[in-house]
Amino acid sequence: MGQNEVKVGLLGLGTVGTGVVQLLNEHVQKIEHQVGGAVRVTKALVADKTKDRGDIDLNDLELTESAAEVINDTEIDVVIELIGGVEEARQLISDALANKKQVVTANKDLIAMYGAELLEKAAENSCDLFYEASVAGGIPIIRSLTEGLSADQITKMMGIVNGTTNYILTKMNDEGRSYDDVLQEAKDLGFAESDPTADVEGLDAARKMAILATLGFSMNVDLEDVDVRGITTISAEDMDYSEQLGYTIKLIGLAERDTETGKVDVSVQPALLPADHQLAAVKNEYNAVYVYGEAVGETMFYGPGAGSLPTATAVVSDLITVVKNNNLGVSGRSMVPPQFEKSLKSDEDIRSKYFLRMHVKDETGVFDEITSLFSKHDISFEKILQVPLAKNGAGKAEVVMITHETSRTSYEVIYEKLKSMESIHELESSYRVEGGTSE
Ligand SMILES: NC(=O)c1ccc[n+]([C@@H]2O[C@H](COP(=O)([O-])OP(=O)(O)OC[C@H]3O[C@@H](n4cnc5c(N)ncnc54)[C@H](OP(=O)(O)O)[C@@H]3O)[C@@H](O)[C@H]2O)c1
Repeated sequence: MGQNEVKVGLLGLGTVGTGVVQLLNEHVQKIEHQVGGAVRVTKALVADKTKDRGDIDLNDLELTESAAEVINDTEIDVVIELIGGVEEARQLISDALANKKQVVTANKDLIAMYGAELLEKAAENSCDLFYEASVAGGIPIIRSLTEGLSADQITKMMGIVNGTTNYILTKMNDEGRSYDDVLQEAKDLGFAESDPTADVEGLDAARKMAILATLGFSMNVDLEDVDVRGITTISAEDMDYSEQLGYTIKLIGLAERDTETGKVDVSVQPALLPADHQLAAVKNEYNAVYVYGEAVGETMFYGPGAGSLPTATAVVSDLITVVKNNNLGVSGRSMVPPQFEKSLKSDEDIRSKYFLRMHVKDETGVFDEITSLFSKHDISFEKILQVPLAKNGAGKAEVVMITHETSRTSYEVIYEKLKSMESIHELESSYRVEGGTSE
């Protein structure tokens, strides 16, 4: 890396890439002041050089359709990967590290799947590999976990880490609209992709929770270790009853560590949160991560989870760290390998409260039959209500309950028994209840 000017190669000049160029253009002096020299993007890989890049000032930045022209350019010190996807990005980052380039990426899919491998390769080559933008866009959560909270023992992280699903659930809750209706609107407004599967099925959030759990618990948590469920089956009725009971439904990424055994549990699922919980107030496309540390207690990080400039701030802050590390001669030495072997909780260890909604026969004795089944399995209720079904529900009633805390194993046993009970027509929905009790 030259003494006076750091040369940067971008792989990708889309939403985030143009944000990076804009931020570097606008904050020239601030960045120069921090790192002691100029930082300039000299080349950018794109898929189509002829594409209109809007009114972004590209200065003397050279566009290329050949990745090798960036990766093998001996003048380039830092490569920023912003093309997305997994295999090509993995190969390009690997090649860049082999060429002793420092690397920054915003690619959560790649880091969740191959982060450990690429970080090892970076260390072998005395290079940095930073990925702040990969989780919760503009929120500096990764640096907060690895630096700000490094003295503490983190026991729990709860996150709203997918803006698309949070937008959909907010509109369903606040406007009483159906999932399909809001999804279509989110697509029209550009909040949801034309194929929203990775978002609505919880996979995008799961990738981010795997990254957060790996860092927060200092343990390699893989994507397959994350129990995932999306939001596609949440109904307006579920939203309504949750509200009546004092809760809100959110897609929650949950990572918990047992302080005694050190075992962890990482999941993404729609869950009921008390309406007065801090995460319940996170609306629309915003993200937030709640972190509980033994010493610090509760902390919460809130902000934009995506978008050109918010995400670019995370990328450029990584770039600044890379340059500072290089100036200090410590590149590739700030990564701390996981301290613990992976150890996951069993279903017996995973404890939660549950919301359950079912359609039952509207007859005397049915309610008692259900409650006695629960008490036989030592599961008590925090709240329970029974209402006759108004629409198309002659002879049927709806029972909605929130249990006290129980193990996942016990809950699954009882769920199977309920399914086979004659007096129960349908188990409509079931969610975990997190974040304490609603008043
Ligand atoms: N967008 C966000 O708010 C956000 C937030 C957090 C993280 N991220 C992550 O940031 C990364 C970039 O996202 P983005 O939204 O900026 O994507 P994007 O708008 O689709 O931009 C991708 C860029 O990469 C180029 N590109 C894609 N595939 C290529 C290939 N095979 N060869 C050459 N060039 C290629 C495209 O070229 P053309 O311009 O010529 O098409 C485009 O410039 C992804 O990993 C994403 O998950 C994005």
